[in-house]
Amino acid sequence: MTDQQDGEKATNPMELYEKLAAQGDQVRTLKTAKADKDEIEAAVQLLLKLKVEYKQASGQDYKAGCPPSENSGGAYNGPAADGADDQDTVDPWNVSTTNAKGVDYDKLIVRFGSSKINQELVDRIGRVTGRRPHHFLRRGIFFSHRDMHQVLDAYEKHKSFYLYTGRGPSSEAMHVGHLIPFIFTKWLQDVFDIPLVIQLTDDEKYLWKDLSIEDCQRFAIENTRDIIACGFDVNKTFIFSDLEYMGSSPEFFRNVVKVQKHVTFNQVKGIFGFTDSDCIGKISFPATQAAPAFSNSFPEIFGSRKDTQCLIPCAIDQDPYFRMTRDVAPRIGYPKPALMHSTFFPALQGAQTKMSASDANSSIFLTDTPKQIKNKINKYAFSGGKDTVEEHRKYGGNTEVDVSYMYLTFFMEDDERLEKIRQDYASGTLLTGELKKILIETLQPIIAQHQERRKRVTDETVKQFMTPRPLNFKI
Ligand code: TRP
Repeated sequence: MTDQQDGEKATNPMELYEKLAAQGDQVRTLKTAKADKDEIEAAVQLLLKLKVEYKQASGQDYKAGCPPSENSGGAYNGPAADGADDQDTVDPWNVSTTNAKGVDYDKLIVRFGSSKINQELVDRIGRVTGRRPHHFLRRGIFFSHRDMHQVLDAYEKHKSFYLYTGRGPSSEAMHVGHLIPFIFTKWLQDVFDIPLVIQLTDDEKYLWKDLSIEDCQRFAIENTRDIIACGFDVNKTFIFSDLEYMGSSPEFFRNVVKVQKHVTFNQVKGIFGFTDSDCIGKISFPATQAAPAFSNSFPEIFGSRKDTQCLIPCAIDQDPYFRMTRDVAPRIGYPKPALMHSTFFPALQGAQTKMSASDANSSIFLTDTPKQIKNKINKYAFSGGKDTVEEHRKYGGNTEVDVSYMYLTFFMEDDERLEKIRQDYASGTLLTGELKKILIETLQPIIAQHQERRKRVTDETVKQFMTPRPLNFKI
């Protein structure tokens, strides 16, 4: 998104909308008052100028009485809707902030117009499923949602739903951060007992990166092995690569085209920041990521049913795709997908950015040996501890910026033990080296077990998961 909107001022659609409404009133007042012709003309010109700016910022035509809809965050790096300083960049291609504590997720909720996963919702999920809410929910790692109450209302009335998530296979190397949505999705699949589709956007990675089609397809298969190793139920899960599945599924393709017809270039420019020099593949790709949110894209699973509700667990950077999807859905006769958003998994160097597969030292890979894990954490994990042991004992460490502590919130399941670690670190009883040791000992077995399970994923298993077929569920 760095090359977006060269020289243009990014403006908040809501602010522009309000300016427009006021300017409209002004024009009417001048006309009623039979004001000077030039004065009216000047006011009308300003109104037209504002309309153009509004369309650029929101991707929509201005209509009096219709505030910008939810997919109109403008180029979503635009100023925060709450008027606060925009220090966080969050989009499908970039995540960064100047704050060592990481992105301000509460502000992001306001900016994206989603809802917070509050204690009430966490408790409700516990009640409805009869299971203790996952620690990602208890600890605010999945922190934002759209329409979850509606999904739960329906579920309580025995109207079920399906899950959709995905992965862009940009390399063979997956890191622990990539597992977060899959670990959570598997939990959702287990507790709700529902079908799941997983999209591998090898087409997207071909369009965005300097990679061959063959490489992207190969990465899709390699990544599928890691995804399967998360433990998904083969009777309830369909994994597909876009480059492979789309050509064999007329129903899927029809939905892609329906979405394409109902989203303008202006809208995707507003949502994704595309420019005139982006290839047309990129411009139409969002329709491909939207289609799996509609159940009749998968006739083998849902037959011709188009009303099965979809829930998408994903990292918050994918929200622009689904704001667009939700905006289009009712216009093409489908229910809007619900969403649950996760925070990012921080880079070893600090929460200013997320883990990146292209920087070996910023990430713990799923292929790392116990020794590599140990060395990387000891060498790179940003510490919130003090410079000397004496100072640390006296003043304590800062868990809000300490990456080892943050990683433990993702991977240590025991709430009491984690809380004790937090207190001990903050009070200075626990030293940085000791905290790192706990993290190393927590992660090593998790990665080793993942590697064991991945080894057991045969070509046959991959084929089974990737074959379009009926799944086992009641909806
Ligand atoms: N665009 C995502 C990526 O690059 C992949 C993806 C496709 C996805 N469909 C999804 C992610 C649905 C989450 C939910 O990683």
